[in-house]
Amino acid sequence: MSLSPATGPLLYEGKAKRVYATDREDVVAVEYKDDATAFNALKKAQLLGKGAMNCRISALLFEHLEQLGVPTHYRGLYSDHWMMVRPVRVVPVEVVVRNLAAGSLCRQMPIAAGTPLEPPLLDLYYKDDALGDPLLSEARLDRLGVVTPAQLEAIRNLAFRVNDGLRALFGPVGLELVDFKIELGFTATGELVVADEISPDTCRLWDRAVADAQDRILDKDRFRQDLGGVVEAYGEVLKRVQGVCPEPRVYR
Ligand code: TMP
Ligand code: ASP
Repeated sequence: MSLSPATGPLLYEGKAKRVYATDREDVVAVEYKDDATAFNALKKAQLLGKGAMNCRISALLFEHLEQLGVPTHYRGLYSDHWMMVRPVRVVPVEVVVRNLAAGSLCRQMPIAAGTPLEPPLLDLYYKDDALGDPLLSEARLDRLGVVTPAQLEAIRNLAFRVNDGLRALFGPVGLELVDFKIELGFTATGELVVADEISPDTCRLWDRAVADAQDRILDKDRFRQDLGGVVEAYGEVLKRVQGVCPEPRVYR
């Protein structure tokens, strides 16, 4: 059994994580699960070790972003699959940045997989599983009223800063950041920060040294497409980023 923090009530359970209150008002504990889901949980599996892997990769990436001055909810690791974070009010919008065409973009538009997108494309989705996380237009987002125009501008800017920061990290270790999804939240003091996780569950990462369109995949597409070797691929991502990110701090 790995070390768990003393937790209060379960605040939220998502598909890959549980969030618990702690005895401190300004800290919540996030438990990364081994559950893998895709296609809005139509496809499910348990992948032994995935939780710990994503917890560590997320910690490394949050450390890297914090070092660049990008604000995140991250406070530190508690143990191998527990992360301590600041509580935030999550904006119910999934923010996707795409550097190369892949996934839903290629299913919905006449664009071949791998086509470079310059400047990168930013897509917003309404975070609601029951509705299937629909793509938002700016007018629909405005109608929804969950963010002000100024907040939307801040969200866009932060998403592109995350993209620049991650590309600068991944490029030199031979990883192509095809696209990624982030969630953002407001802290108690109203600061907009990157929340949730950043991991191969939420990014598309291709091995730049591999030409084969399937063999190069080092992210959750291996699970979505039944390619096997999911945890091994995540391990490869971890191996590459741990040499180039600050060591995750321990928060207890
Ligand atoms: P998409 O091509 O399926 O729209 O996905 C874009 C990016 O967002 C990709 O890196 C995977 C990530 N993503 C999530 O993290 N959660 C999701 O529920 C979906 C649909 C995509
Ligand atoms: N995260 C989503 C799900 O669990 C979709 C995906 O990542 O493909 O269903």
